[in-house]
Amino acid sequence: MEIVRQLQGPLHAIFVPVGGGGLIAGIAAYVKRVRPEVKIIGVEPSDANAMALSLYHGKRVMLEHVGGFADGVAVKAVGEETFRLCRELVDGIVMVSRDAICASIKDMFEEKRMLATFLPEEHGSFKKFTELVGRMNITEFKYRYDFNAKDALVLYSVGIYTDNELGAMVDRMELAKLKTVNLTDNDLAKDHLRYFIGGRSEIKDELVYRFIFPERPGALMKFLDAFSPRWNISLFHYRAQGETGANVLVGIQVPPVDFDEFKSHADNLGYEYMSENNNEIYRLLLRDPEV
Ligand SMILES: Cc1ncc(COP(=O)(O)O)c(C=O)c1O
Repeated sequence: MEIVRQLQGPLHAIFVPVGGGGLIAGIAAYVKRVRPEVKIIGVEPSDANAMALSLYHGKRVMLEHVGGFADGVAVKAVGEETFRLCRELVDGIVMVSRDAICASIKDMFEEKRMLATFLPEEHGSFKKFTELVGRMNITEFKYRYDFNAKDALVLYSVGIYTDNELGAMVDRMELAKLKTVNLTDNDLAKDHLRYFIGGRSEIKDELVYRFIFPERPGALMKFLDAFSPRWNISLFHYRAQGETGANVLVGIQVPPVDFDEFKSHADNLGYEYMSENNNEIYRLLLRDPEV
């Protein structure tokens, strides 16, 4: 019902995972009544394909073995009534291998919409950027301060909304004079360079912490409100982890006299965090050897 009512573009087909057939039968019964031209296509694992076989043979087929990888749809036989409805209303079934299921889970996890925005290296620009992102959900964000550069380059991925919403966000950035490039079609950036951004930097008074951000809207903004623009953020690696929140590595320039104040802001935030300043690897990979 939501698909039919809310989708603004053309709707050709709806793909539905099939176990016993209840979900697809219900969707098909509704959609064929209101939009009979829309195709309803079932999707089954090839080792749990009771509906595909039953439709092919024209009667309910009982599987001897059923693959349990997609456990929500691992059934040996489809329902009697659901089969009757599917015979009448479903336009076809596609079967998917375990590899294809894994690949699509991976695709969803590794965001495909990757962008780069140039931010002026000045206090508060990070927060302004986050405001412009607006309700688009950032799932990955990478930034490393470079005091030689006039502009900082941030690399980020956003949760998938419509192309219009993505376009509107890019327009907002451009309007605010923040040059933004869409790297979605750039495989070099997505597969390799996203992991290389940043590097050693000779940054004064840098504190490095790992934070666990809760998975709720506004968590990033709350964090920035606590620290920025009071202290410069010199490093930011954010990767959403789904329900458990996000692991975030943050560098902040805090002069020693401000440390107690900083610490009380960090504690008040209520996010779990730990210092990584003495981590050997941080020193090796991200600090200038002379500092
Ligand atoms: C992940 C998932 N997909 C699809 C379905 C639909 O299954 P059915 O065809 O039995 O309604 C279920 C049912 O529990 C499910 O868990």
